[in-house]
Amino acid sequence: MILSGAWKRRKSSDHFLGLPMAKKLHPLVREYQDWSPRSAKLMDRGRQVFPGGDTRASAHYGPYPLVMESGEGCRLLDADGHEFLDFMNNFTSLIHGHAHPATVSAVTQQVPRGSAFAAPSASQIELAELIVSRIPSIEQMRFCSSGSEATLMALRCARAVTGRQKIMKMEGGYHGSYELAEVSLIPVPDQRGAIDHPRSLAIDNSIPDSVLADTVVCPYNEPDLARALINEHAAELAAVIVEPILGSMGMVPASAEFLTALREATEKNNIVLIFDEVISLRLSSAGEQGRQHLTPDLTCMGKIIGGGLPVGGFGGSKDLMQVFSPEAKETVFHASTFSGNALTMASGLATMSEFEEKDSDRINRLGERLRSGFNGTLSQHGIRGQAIGSGSLSNIILSDDTIHDARDSMQGMMAAGHISALLHLGMLRKGIVSASRLMYCISTPMDETHIDTAITALSDSLTELRPHIEAEKPGLLI
Ligand SMILES: Cc1ncc(COP(=O)(O)O)c(C=O)c1O
Repeated sequence: MILSGAWKRRKSSDHFLGLPMAKKLHPLVREYQDWSPRSAKLMDRGRQVFPGGDTRASAHYGPYPLVMESGEGCRLLDADGHEFLDFMNNFTSLIHGHAHPATVSAVTQQVPRGSAFAAPSASQIELAELIVSRIPSIEQMRFCSSGSEATLMALRCARAVTGRQKIMKMEGGYHGSYELAEVSLIPVPDQRGAIDHPRSLAIDNSIPDSVLADTVVCPYNEPDLARALINEHAAELAAVIVEPILGSMGMVPASAEFLTALREATEKNNIVLIFDEVISLRLSSAGEQGRQHLTPDLTCMGKIIGGGLPVGGFGGSKDLMQVFSPEAKETVFHASTFSGNALTMASGLATMSEFEEKDSDRINRLGERLRSGFNGTLSQHGIRGQAIGSGSLSNIILSDDTIHDARDSMQGMMAAGHISALLHLGMLRKGIVSASRLMYCISTPMDETHIDTAITALSDSLTELRPHIEAEKPGLLI
């Protein structure tokens, strides 16, 4: 039997968030269940056909996630008929929220004309032209079907051009659903090693030792340590890959000093610097690199560039991207059945054409309003907590310690324990959808009134939670 023993080989990073499983049902969880009976029933059916009830781990939370039925603009409707403001936006990918009229029209026109051809289309050229015109570091690009594929192909490009094997990634960085992309995503305290030499940690028992050995883990936001590690491993490093804002571990922005240190050290050692802007591209029309005036060698994209349909993209200088030319002498093979499919390209082109600098500036300002309102509310309620992030991307962490890397945010999440999960359920009942890790992002249909509604919902949720915090996690009270 295949399962025997193998699972014990390596201790995986236990879930540190979420609701306690074995204990008596928490009264606030009971309220959530009473309030969402149709979702509960559908999820019972889901559990028959999907492990855990859903087809995607990141969207799961306990006791079960709400089943959504429709979305329009910044509003969502669930199976029980509740209406929500959507601050999740499919994990930041819906820049215009749901069913933007220009996107609906473009996709509706494309559907009867065919969805995918094994041939180039004018719309893929147009969307690439738009992206290339906005992001100076991208002279040429490729589309693919997911952000995971984008980062994977960027890493392959780096290995091919440098002839080296190892990849440096950040502790707490997430680059997709494959082995290397998740190494040391969760820096488990008793396993992660010293800050100047973090260990390569497997996210679960499926990660081969060879992948861990090929990954050098770098502490986030530590310019001097990063320089030292890059110099130490320079001879074997093909690439350094970094998210300019550490998304999965709490929307921790990289300092300009840190990104500059990575740029200088990689340039000095002929290592390919890859910015994973799958999330951060929404921060300006040229992504976070545009705001920070930095030039990576390769950039990975995804999420917003597909206008709500599955997508990925990667690009850089012509010199580097030449390895993907089928006409090149030494080529990296990139096939991918749905790359540049006509539906995604129509959707992405319509969506990105309607997303300009003035739009990113406006929703970034709304993000500042949200963080400042959340911070004021947490302090009025005497709760240790803060909203961090950058522009339209925010995360609440129930800790008042400074959060500058994944270790800090993990510490905060562990200290808050199940209270974070209860706050998420409370916000849902008050009509605000966020990621269960309390990540909130803003879409262009939102204005100040939507932000203020979320701030009021936080205040009401904290009032409801107060007696439970007093009884169950008094350390969270100031
Ligand atoms: C920074 C980053 N890179 C890559 C990915 C992978 O993208 P996808 O889920 O489209 O494969 C994600 C997904 O959330 C991400 O946040």
